[in-house]
Amino acid sequence: MTENQYKADFPSEIIREGKVQVLVPKLEAYGVVPSDYAPSKAPVFYNPVMEFNRDLTVLAFQAYQRMVNREISICDPLTSQGIRGVRFAAEISGVKKVVEGDINEQAFRLAKHNVQLNGLENLVSVKHKDANCLLSCHASPKKRFDIVDVDPFGTPALYLGSALRAIRNKGLLASTATDLAPLCGVHAKACLRKYGGRPLRTEYCHELAVRLLAGCTATLAAKHDIGIRVVFSHSSEHYIRVYSQITYGAKKADESLKNLGYILHCFNCFHRETTRNPFDKKIEQCPECGSKMDYAGPLWIGSILDEGFCRQMLEENKLVAFKNSAKITKLLTLTRDEAVAPITYYVVDKLSGKLNLPSPPLQAFIDAIRSNGFQAVSTHFNSRGIKTNVPALTMHKLLRDMAASK
Ligand SMILES: C[S@@+](CC[C@H](N)C(=O)[O-])C[C@H]1O[C@@H](n2cnc3c(N)ncnc32)[C@H](O)[C@@H]1O
Ligand SMILES: [Zn+2]
Repeated sequence: MTENQYKADFPSEIIREGKVQVLVPKLEAYGVVPSDYAPSKAPVFYNPVMEFNRDLTVLAFQAYQRMVNREISICDPLTSQGIRGVRFAAEISGVKKVVEGDINEQAFRLAKHNVQLNGLENLVSVKHKDANCLLSCHASPKKRFDIVDVDPFGTPALYLGSALRAIRNKGLLASTATDLAPLCGVHAKACLRKYGGRPLRTEYCHELAVRLLAGCTATLAAKHDIGIRVVFSHSSEHYIRVYSQITYGAKKADESLKNLGYILHCFNCFHRETTRNPFDKKIEQCPECGSKMDYAGPLWIGSILDEGFCRQMLEENKLVAFKNSAKITKLLTLTRDEAVAPITYYVVDKLSGKLNLPSPPLQAFIDAIRSNGFQAVSTHFNSRGIKTNVPALTMHKLLRDMAASK
C-alpha cells in the first residue's frame, strides 16, 4: 500500500498543533468528552492535553540545539501518531534527522502518514519496532542520537537503559512519567520496583517524583560509565518530565552518583533535610521537634533545574506563538527562579491546617519569611507552595505572628 492510499480504519480527524497538522483518532467517537477523556480507548494513543508537554519539549530541544550549536538528530521511540517527531522536524531549527518508532502497527502506519501529510519524509523516518530494540540498534557510537525522548504509558524506567546507550556524549535524554501513584507514594512497592527508591506521601511528593526519576536515570547511566546533569524538569497535570544532559566517563558517573541521597521528613513539624548516608542516625530524631522522622530515597538530591537553560527556554518561547505561550512563560519564570532555591517545598494551607490557623496570602507569607532574613520563592510544583530555608518551627512562629496581627 502506498501512503497516498492510507485510510485510517477508525474514526479520525485532522488537528493542528504548533506548525503541523496531524491525523489523530477522533476522541468523541470513543465516548470521550474533554473533561473525562480516556485517550487510551482509541486504537492509537492521542492526548490533546499533552500539547503543553510537547510545546515545552520543542522549546527545550531548541534551547539544547542552540547550546551545542550544531545539527542534531532526535529519536522518538514511542511515537504513537507521530506528532512529536513531526513537530521536532518542522519547528526546531538545526534538526538533521528524526527517527520515530512504535510497536503498535496502527500507530506506525498513522505516524508514517503524518510524516507524509507534513511533507517531512526527507527528515523523519518511522520504524515499526519495539522501543528497546530500536534504541539498541543505535547504541554504537556512530549511530547514536543527540536527543532521545522517552514518552511512554506509565513509567519510562523500562526504556531508560537503552535510551542512554543510544545517546551520544553530551546528548540529551528527556523522559515522561505518568505513573504518579507509585511515584507519589500511593503504591510505594511499585515505585521501589520501577525506580529503585522509596517514595513518601508528603505535600511535596511531586518534587520527590522528579527526584526519584532523576535518581533512577543516574543509577542506570552509571552502569554505562555515563554521568548526568538535570537541566530541566517539571510537574504538570498528571505527569512529570525530566531532561538530563549526559556525559561519558567513569569519573562523570561517579560525580553524578554523589547526587544520590535521601530526604528525611518529619510528619509532626514538617521539618525536612537531605542526607547522603542511609545509616545516618539523624532519622531517629527531628532536630526541630524531636519526633522520629521518615525518609524517601535513594533519589536525586542535586539540582533539578538549570537557571541558564530555563532562561534560554524563555527566550525560545518569545520566538514562537504557541496557544500555550502564556502558560509556558509562567511555568518557565517559576522554574528559573526556583532553580537555585532550597530543596522541597512547604504548602501554606497544609501548614496552617496543621496549626489551626487561617491560611495567609502566599505572597504575604513569602515576604514575611524574607523580611526575617530567609530565602523564599514560590514554586511551579504547587500554586500554594513555598521553597524556603526557614527552619520549620520558625515558620510556625511566623505564621502565628501573621495570624495574631490580623
Ligand atoms: C503515551 S504514547 C506516546 C504518545 C506520544 N509520544 C505523543 O506525544 O502523543 C505511548 C506509545 O508507546 C507505544 N508503545 C508501548 N510499548 C512500546 C514498546 N515496547 N515499543 C515501542 N512502542 C511502544 C504505544 O503503542 C503508544 O503509541
Ligand atoms: Zn519535627
